[in-house]
Amino acid sequence: METFTHLFVCSFFFSLLRTSITQDSTITASQSIRDGGTLVSAGGSFQLGFFSPGNSKSRYVGIWYVISPEIVVWVANRNAPLNDRSGILKVTGDGILVLLNSTNGIVWSSNTSRRPENPVAQLLDTGNLVVKDKDDDNKDNILWQSFDYPCDTHLPEMKLGWDLVTGLDRFLSSWKSTEDPAQGEYSIRIDPRGLPQRVFMKGDSIKTRAGSWNGLGFTGRGLRPNPVYEYGFVLKEKEVYYEYKLLNKSVFSRYVLNPSGVAQRFNWVDRTHSWEPFFTSQADACENYAVCGGYATCNINNSPVCACLEGFLPKSPKQWDSVDWSGGCVRRTSLKCEDGDGFWKHKGVKLPDTSSSRFNKSMTLKECEEMCLKNCSCTAYASLDVRGEGSGCVMWFGSLVDTRQFSEGGQELYIRIAISELGMISLLCRLEKKRHSNKKKLVGIIVGSTLLVVGMIIVGLVLYIWKKKLRNQEMTKRNQMKDCDNESAKEDMELPVFDLATITNATDNFSNSNKLGEGGFGPVYKGTLPEGRDIAVKKLSNNSRQGLNELKNEVILIAKLQHRNLVKILGCCIQENENMLIYEYMPNKSLDCFIFDQAKSKLLDWHKRINIINGVAKGLLYLHEDSRLRIIHRDLKASNILLDNKMNPKISDFGLARSFGGDQIDSETNRIIGTYGYMSPEYVMHGQYSVKSDVFSFGVLVLEIVSGKKNKGFCHPDHQLNLLGHAWELWIEDKPIEFMDDLVGDLRTLSNVLRHIHVGLLCVQQRPEDRPNMSSVIQMFSSESLLPKPKQPGFFTYSPKADSCSTKHGTCSANEMTTTIIEAR
Ligand SMILES: *[C@@H]1O[C@H](CO)[C@@H](O)[C@H](O)[C@H]1NC(C)=O
Ligand SMILES: *[C@@H]1O[C@H](CO)[C@@H](O)[C@H](O)[C@H]1NC(C)=O
Ligand SMILES: *[C@@H]1O[C@H](CO)[C@@H](O)[C@H](O)[C@H]1NC(C)=O
Ligand SMILES: *[C@@H]1O[C@H](CO)[C@@H](O)[C@H](O)[C@H]1NC(C)=O
Repeated sequence: METFTHLFVCSFFFSLLRTSITQDSTITASQSIRDGGTLVSAGGSFQLGFFSPGNSKSRYVGIWYVISPEIVVWVANRNAPLNDRSGILKVTGDGILVLLNSTNGIVWSSNTSRRPENPVAQLLDTGNLVVKDKDDDNKDNILWQSFDYPCDTHLPEMKLGWDLVTGLDRFLSSWKSTEDPAQGEYSIRIDPRGLPQRVFMKGDSIKTRAGSWNGLGFTGRGLRPNPVYEYGFVLKEKEVYYEYKLLNKSVFSRYVLNPSGVAQRFNWVDRTHSWEPFFTSQADACENYAVCGGYATCNINNSPVCACLEGFLPKSPKQWDSVDWSGGCVRRTSLKCEDGDGFWKHKGVKLPDTSSSRFNKSMTLKECEEMCLKNCSCTAYASLDVRGEGSGCVMWFGSLVDTRQFSEGGQELYIRIAISELGMISLLCRLEKKRHSNKKKLVGIIVGSTLLVVGMIIVGLVLYIWKKKLRNQEMTKRNQMKDCDNESAKEDMELPVFDLATITNATDNFSNSNKLGEGGFGPVYKGTLPEGRDIAVKKLSNNSRQGLNELKNEVILIAKLQHRNLVKILGCCIQENENMLIYEYMPNKSLDCFIFDQAKSKLLDWHKRINIINGVAKGLLYLHEDSRLRIIHRDLKASNILLDNKMNPKISDFGLARSFGGDQIDSETNRIIGTYGYMSPEYVMHGQYSVKSDVFSFGVLVLEIVSGKKNKGFCHPDHQLNLLGHAWELWIEDKPIEFMDDLVGDLRTLSNVLRHIHVGLLCVQQRPEDRPNMSSVIQMFSSESLLPKPKQPGFFTYSPKADSCSTKHGTCSANEMTTTIIEAR
C-alpha cells in the first residue's frame, strides 16, 4: 500500500513537472533553469531538471529518461546537494555551467580550458549534457560534457576510461544509497597500468577483474554477440576506453552499478512498459580477485576451486590444504633463463592481472615468445588480440595472479617454466588422463633392449645428446608448445617408458614369488628383463588416489636426482589402469633385513656399518643441500635403505618427500605420515617438518645400526625406555659401551663407535635447533674434534604403539609400514 502511495505521489510529482516543461534542449548564457524548469533532449529521450531521490529533501540537478522519470542516469551536484528549491542552473559567458543556491553561492560548476564565443549548454538525445560554441557542431570542439563525469550509469556511446593526455579518468561509481547520489564505495574503471584492464573496486582495492580486452571481449567475461548492443574497446597512445553501441537506436539500454555493488544491465521493454534486467554481474568464488594467490588458477567446476599452475607447488602446503590459498604457489624447478626455459601452454584461461605486463600491438606471437625468453623476468606471454590467427603481444613481469580456467571460451596463455619441467608435466598430464579414461590407449615408447643392456650410462648419454640437440634447436623446440592434449609431448619425457607386456613378463605376471615386499603405497616386485637385467617394480594400487599423488611426487623428485646413495629410477609404466615405477634392483634388499636379523647381522662388521652410515649421510646431505630441488625425505628408516651387491646404501622411497624453496626452512602439514620410531617429536605433535626432522630419523638409524636393535618395539628387562632412552641412560651413566651390538665391539674401533653413538644422540635431541645439520654430521664423523654434549633425546620413553617384547627382532618380512597417524590441528 505504501509503495503504491509512493508511486502515485512520484508520478504525480513528475506529471506536475511535465506541465512546466520548456521544450528547449538548449540554454544560452543569458538563460537559466530554476528548480521546476527542465530541458528535454531534441529527440525526446532524456530530460534535465531538479529532483530529490526517494524521501530525501535534498535537491539535485540530474538527467532522467522521459519514458521513466524515476530513473536518473546522471547527477551534476552529487556530492553537493542543495537544501531548498531555490537552485538555479546557468551558463556563464566563459562557457562554464554553474549551479547557484539562494544566496548566489556556487554549489557546483563545470570546467573548460577554452573561452567560447557564444556558449550554450545542450542536452543531447544520448543523455549527454554538453557545453559548446553555439554554431560549432563539431564533436571534437565540445568544451565540456557530462559523459566525461559519469555517475552510476553507463549509457550507450559513453566512453569509460582514460584520456591519457589530460589524465581524465572516466569511471562508474555507485551512489552511497538509493537516496543519496554522492559517490559511494564501489567503482568500475579501467586500470591503465600495463595492458589496460577493467576492474571492479571497493574503495581502493580490486574486488573483481573483468580483465584486459582481447579483441572479442574482456578476457574474464564471455561477451557473446547479442541482438541489443555491441562493445568496443579503444587502445591508443592518447586514450584508452570502452563503450557500447546499441544495434537498434530506438531501444533503451543502461548499465548501472547500484549502491550495494551489483552491476546490472536493463533494457526497456515497451510492451510491459518496464525495465527488464538483461544481465547481472555474476559473483562465483572464482570472481574474487586473486582468490588462489600467485601462480595458481581457479576453476569453478573443481573442488577445491584452486590449483597450482603446471610446474608449480603450493608455497605453504599446510595453508593450502586448509583452504587458505592466499599464499599461492611457487616453482617446482627454478628457471634457468636463456638456456633452459620453455613455455607451457594453458588453454581456455582468463589472462592474469595485466598491471605488471607490457604489450606491443604489432608483434607476432613468435616474436613475443622470443622477446619473453630473452628477458629473465618475463614470466608469461599471450596474444594481445585473439581474433583470427591472433596478433600482438602481452608479456608479464612478475607473479601471475587472478587466472581462471574456463570450460568454454577463454584464451591461450604461455607460462615460462624450466625446460626440464616440460617432459615431467607431460607425463603427469598423461597420468591424470590415464585415470580418467581407460579407453584411450597410449602407446608407450618401447625402450629398446639394446638401450637397456648398455644400461643407464647410455640413457644418460642419450639424455645428454638430447639436451644438447635441444639447446641447438632451441627455437624449433619451444615452438612445439606443450599442453595436456599434445600427444607428441611424450617424446620429450626424460623418463623412459616401459610397456606393460614387458613388465608383466619380467615379473612373471606379478607372481607372489616375485614379490619383494609391500612398499609405501603398493607392492614391490622383482623382475628380470629379457636381456637379463634385474629390476624392481613398484606397483600402485589402482584406486588409491593418495597413492597416485605419492607416485607423481616420486616421479617428479627422483627422476631429477642423481647420487650414488640414492636409488636410481629406470623408468615408468603407465598403461591400462596400471601405474608403475621401475627401479634398479638391489640384490641385498634393505638394511633392516641385516641389522635386525641375528644371523645376517654377522655379515655387517663395523667397517661395513660405517660405510652404510656415511653413505646414508651423504645421500641425505645431497637431498638437503646439494640437489637443485632441496628435499626433505620425511620417511627415512632402515627399510628404506637399500643395499647393492657391495653393501653400498641407497636411499629409496620418495613418495612422501617434499621439495622446499630456497629460503623456506620448515613447513607444516595436516596429514602426518611417516613411520613410528623414526618421526621427530615436532613432526608427530605439530606436523612441523624440516631438514631437522630427517636428521632425527637419521639419528635413530645410526643408533639402530650401532646397537643392532630396533627403536620401535625395543624392550629391556630393567626399564620402560625405548632405544633412544636406553642409549641416553647409558650415556649419562657413562657406560655407552654397553649400547653397542656385541658384533661391532673391537678395541681398535671402540672410539669410533662411541663417536657414532655420540653423533646419533646429537641428532635425536628433542629440539630441532639443537640437532646438527647433515653437513656438520659428516664433519663430526670424519674429524677428531670435540663434540658438543647431547641433550635429552625426543621420545625417549616408550613409543606410542610399542610392540610387545616378543617381536624384539623384527625381520624385513615384517616390514614397518608407513602410516598416516594423525590429522594435526
Ligand atoms: C578545471 O580544469 C583545470 C585544468 O584542466 C583543473 O586544474 C581544475 O582543477 C578544474 N576545476 C574543476 C573545478 O574541476
Ligand atoms: C528497433 O526497435 C523497435 C522498438 O523495439 C522496433 O519496433 C523496430 O522494429 C526495431 N528495428 C529493427 C531494425 O530491428
Ligand atoms: C613493437 O614491436 C615492433 C616489432 O617488433 C617494433 O618495431 C616496435 O618498436 C615495438 N613497439 C614498441 C612500442 O615497443
Ligand atoms: C626485462 O624487463 C623488465 C621489465 O620490463 C625491465 O625492467 C628490464 O630492463 C628488462 N631486462 C632486459 C635485460 O631487457
